[in-house]
Amino acid sequence: DWTMAGYREQAIAAIRDQVGDKNVICALSGGVDSSVAAALLHEAIGDQLTCVFVDHGLLRLHEAEEVVGMFRDHMNLSVIHADESELFLGELEGVSDPETKRKIIGRLFIDVFQKYANQIDGAEFLAQGTLYPDVIESVSFSGGPSATIKSHHNVGGLPEKMGLKLVEPLRELFKDEVRALGRELGLPDHFIARHPFPGPGLAIRCPGEITREKLEILRQADAIYIDQIRRHGLYDAIWQAFVAILPVRTVGVMGDGRTYDFACALRAVTSVDGMTADYYPFSHEFLGETATRIINEVQGINRVTYDITSKPPGTIEWE
Ligand code: XMP
Repeated sequence: DWTMAGYREQAIAAIRDQVGDKNVICALSGGVDSSVAAALLHEAIGDQLTCVFVDHGLLRLHEAEEVVGMFRDHMNLSVIHADESELFLGELEGVSDPETKRKIIGRLFIDVFQKYANQIDGAEFLAQGTLYPDVIESVSFSGGPSATIKSHHNVGGLPEKMGLKLVEPLRELFKDEVRALGRELGLPDHFIARHPFPGPGLAIRCPGEITREKLEILRQADAIYIDQIRRHGLYDAIWQAFVAILPVRTVGVMGDGRTYDFACALRAVTSVDGMTADYYPFSHEFLGETATRIINEVQGINRVTYDITSKPPGTIEWE
């Protein structure tokens, strides 16, 4: 008779068996998979685990503080906050091609992770939150259908390069089982239920050149949008929601003045696995209220649009 509590005990025993008294490093992204993997490993091997949270400067408002704060202060994990935003944003300066952005971020991510990992004494294992569908996909489609369209960024190839062995405690689980295990391990509900967030972060929600100014505006607008979605009780009905800042300024009027600011697009989709998606049918009231809030509260945006493209033919992200 299979229970999540039973699975947890069995997984902990398997980790202890595999790792022994050696040290493990883990790239913590704040996503559900790496978070549950880290919590499980921590329970199994305590301070033999060190997590590295790579902050590329492309995170949402307060994200780094929330993730690092939760794992370090509330769950007592050893977490290194690798603030490398200067490095990433510097290398991305002037780059507008989507695939080039992804490649730069993927390469720097590996460099940075390696740099911090090398400072951890005698790590022999790298932990990854690989799920069962990832295992299947990498066998049958080498990275899955969408990986052939966009080069998804992960740490593939890194363990061999660093001479590390892999620990993948979620390999047998589907996403909903990972969430259940996360709850079983005491991760807060709002954390477990978070929408997916892509590795390249806000870079692919900022078509065209990435500037600090645009990122700041995007963070503010996105926070208001998500707040609206939560206030209206819609968060769990949506697979993923975010704002993209468009590389265009448009004219508006505000009070007695003319404005010339950025336009943005709201995106919200329903989906089962991210492979196909439909736009979420918000009410006109919701959209109107949200647009008004964003324009009034965010300096730098004077026009809000709603993206009603499904996938296919669109993708969920804008790049
Ligand atoms: P698309 O835009 O391809 O997105 O329809 C499908 C799902 O994948 C996420 N996504 C990524 N995740 N690295 C990631 O870790 C990436 O480069 C990446 N690109 C897209 C996207 O957020 C959506 O959930």
